[in-house]
Amino acid sequence: MNKLVVFGSNGLLGQSIVERFRKRYDLYAASRGEVNKSSIDADRYTRVDMTNRAQMKDYLSERRPDIIVNAAAYTNVDGCEKEPEACWAGNVRAVENIIDSCVGFEPILVQVSTDYVFDGHAGYYSEKDAPRPGGNYARSKLAAEKIVEQSPLQHIIARTQVLYGFGRELNHNFATWVISRLSSGKNIKVVSDQVGNPTYVDDLSESIYRLLERKEYGLFHISGSETISRFDFAHKIAEVFDLDTGLIEEISTEQLNQLAPRPMNSSFVIDKLVNRIDWEPGDILSGLQRLKIRLVDSHG
Ligand SMILES: NC(=O)c1ccc[n+]([C@@H]2O[C@H](COP(=O)([O-])OP(=O)(O)OC[C@H]3O[C@@H](n4cnc5c(N)ncnc54)[C@H](OP(=O)(O)O)[C@@H]3O)[C@@H](O)[C@H]2O)c1
Repeated sequence: MNKLVVFGSNGLLGQSIVERFRKRYDLYAASRGEVNKSSIDADRYTRVDMTNRAQMKDYLSERRPDIIVNAAAYTNVDGCEKEPEACWAGNVRAVENIIDSCVGFEPILVQVSTDYVFDGHAGYYSEKDAPRPGGNYARSKLAAEKIVEQSPLQHIIARTQVLYGFGRELNHNFATWVISRLSSGKNIKVVSDQVGNPTYVDDLSESIYRLLERKEYGLFHISGSETISRFDFAHKIAEVFDLDTGLIEEISTEQLNQLAPRPMNSSFVIDKLVNRIDWEPGDILSGLQRLKIRLVDSHG
């Protein structure tokens, strides 16, 4: 059984990766937090600060995994503008630390990246399109891609976007935020000029799982199959969860006054992925219905 280490196991994607991979791999999980939030057994969870080179070296040299999935990142996009050094440490130095710690063993590295590497002027981006990142988060994620590409490790770079899904003790993602606000009768303001492909997190894990099983390496765009504005996505969420669409107010990105620039249309072409894994991430309705089941289950 191949040994796999997942970094960021406490996050939205990390928890989903643990669930998908645990039966098929000899799985070990690491995250920064004191508490193990994923479904991995406590004795397989280790607290690792990936920005700390010595900790990373100790952890990886002890385990010598066959595969590393890096689902950890400094993911607060506006936070990256306020704390550029922490952003660079979490998104770039952490990846350098992984690569530099692989001495005497050569794992396959799965690095998760983002649609934000594009400026969002054109939309429908394929892996062949040239990135043009705006903002520290986007620049740091692109820098990490380059480091992985130039490393001696066999790798998958999985660019994804607008992740939503269920996880334990997590900050809200877009879908759970909409559900939580509308369920308590609160208004929300949602931009109608940002367009993308919402991605159900378990579909991203499934795609990564299939790429690894088929030994398909390189750069992949991995997202849900449907392109939609955030405003229309919020409407679909309300419909599936029987919530009041009248509470959703349409606004523009300009009105939000966010620190970091957002790509207006970062939609993906995912043909390369679908051709290589013979499987397609689901549409929005299917993702939301699966999320609904998970949320109902979690409430007992
Ligand atoms: N969410 C999206 O919409 C989206 C869109 C495009 C791309 N992505 C990419 O997808 C990946 C997964 O995102 P996500 O939404 O699952 O992120 P997330 O929920 O914010 O989880 C990230 C995890 O990384 C861990 N982490 C952060 N810094 C760390 C450090 N220095 N050492 C160890 N662990 C650290 C955190 O661990 P603790 O909780 O233990 O502190 C956190 O649980 C990231 O690469 C992100 O850039 C996400």
